[in-house]
Order: sequence, then structure tokens, then C-alpha cells
Amino acid sequence: MIQVHYLARHIREIAYPNYYYEITRKNRLAEQKATNITWHEATVTKQEREQLLNQKGCVVWFTGLSGSGKSTLANAVAHLLHERKHHTYVLDGDNVRHGLNKNLGFSPEDREENIRRVGEVAKLFVDAGTIVMTAFISPYRADRDQARELIAENRFVEVFVECPLDVCEERDPKGLYKKARAGEIKEFTGISAPYEAPHIPEVVVNTAELSIIESAQQVITFLEKTALVPSEK
Ligand code: ADX
Repeated sequence: MIQVHYLARHIREIAYPNYYYEITRKNRLAEQKATNITWHEATVTKQEREQLLNQKGCVVWFTGLSGSGKSTLANAVAHLLHERKHHTYVLDGDNVRHGLNKNLGFSPEDREENIRRVGEVAKLFVDAGTIVMTAFISPYRADRDQARELIAENRFVEVFVECPLDVCEERDPKGLYKKARAGEIKEFTGISAPYEAPHIPEVVVNTAELSIIESAQQVITFLEKTALVPSEK
């Protein structure tokens, strides 16, 4: 039995070199360094901003493999909501990594910091009254849960963009799976780095079976059902 356990561990370490980072995780990048700082209360409140915008600020957190359709879906939802006169914003993994998170790579530690920062930014957007869509692989459950913890209950909608690896690999919109298979990209999610699917996401959309518009509609239906946006009917 013990041998089986060691063998499993050995295989995991080969497949996912940083697997045990998860067990001993400590995000050095998130250490509190600033001292002598005091919170300043805002003059205009979140409620007042929400009243002005006639909506509730919330996060729609898309998670899934690269090529699963997160960004396309987030933009489709944003477009539908915009047409209904809602104020939205999309925070996209590749885009945020061009600026705010340009100093982060794809090690488990860097991904954790990536998601921590995005969670904090999303929190600011919610405070601003915006419906913010985040499209990040966000492969670790613990990191997504940490983001959820930052946001008020019922204002965090986790959307699992479910799409089998072989379909994502077949799509390969950026040619990255091919490179990962050829060993040119290390720690690639789904190939040589893990992806932990959510246990109980608010919404699951299967982009291998549904069209983008059907998938987007599924998200909108959830937002209506939970009164995050008013129903059209
Ligand atoms: S996350 O894991 O930290 O949430 P994020 O969503 O910001 O990832 O960025 C993922 C995007 O970066 C992918 O869609 C892909 O275009 C690109 N990318 C580059 N290297 C990798 C890698 N090793 N693993 C996954 N995605 C990568």
C-alpha cells in the first residue's frame, strides 16, 4: 500500500513538478510590508454608485482550461449586458499579464499571486458598482476560493467553462498546446500543470456542446435568477 502511495507521488511529481507547492504554499509575494497606513472612508458610497448605475456590482468569475472559451464567453456576456445598459468590464488573463501582472509567470506561486491580485482588482470593481467579468484559467481551487472570500456573499458567481482537454487542444487558438506537447512551454495547464475543476460552481457551461450565445445566455439567466440584473421579461 505504501509503495503504491510513493509510486503515485512519484508520478505526480514527474507530471506536475510543483504539485507539492500546494501543500506547503505560502505566498511570499503577498506579504504585508506597508505600515502606518489608515483606511480612508469614501464620501460617495457603494450603494449610491449602484443606485446611479441601476445595477448591483458583482464578479462573474470564469475558470477553465486555455482554449475553453473563457474570454470569448466573458465578452459575449459583457456585450449582452451592455446592450441592456449595464456597466461592465472584462478582466482578461492575457491582457492583465501585459500590464499589472507582467512580472508574473506560470509557476504555482506566480499563478497564485496573479489570481490574488485579480481578486483584489475585481473587489474594487464591485465596489465601483461594475459587473466585472474575469477570464483567467485560475487552475487552483484554493486561489479561486480566496478571491471568493474577498467578495460579499451572492456577489461572486463562479462559472466553470467546461470543455474537454482534447477539444481545447483541437481548437488550439494560439498554437500553445502544440508547443506544450513539443516541450517548448513548461508547466502548461492540462498538459504539464494541473487544473482543479470547481466542486460547486454557481454555473457550469459546456462550450463543446453549446454555442457561445447559448452559453452566454445561460450565465445571464443565472444573473437574472439571483436578481443581480433585472429580468427582461
Ligand atoms: S492563470 O493560470 O494564472 O490563471 P492566466 O489566465 O492568467 O493563467 O493566463 C493564461 C494564458 O496565458 C493562456 O490562455 C495562454 O494564452 C497563456 N499561457 C502562456 N503560458 C502558459 C502556461 N504555461 N500555462 C497556461 N497558459 C499559458
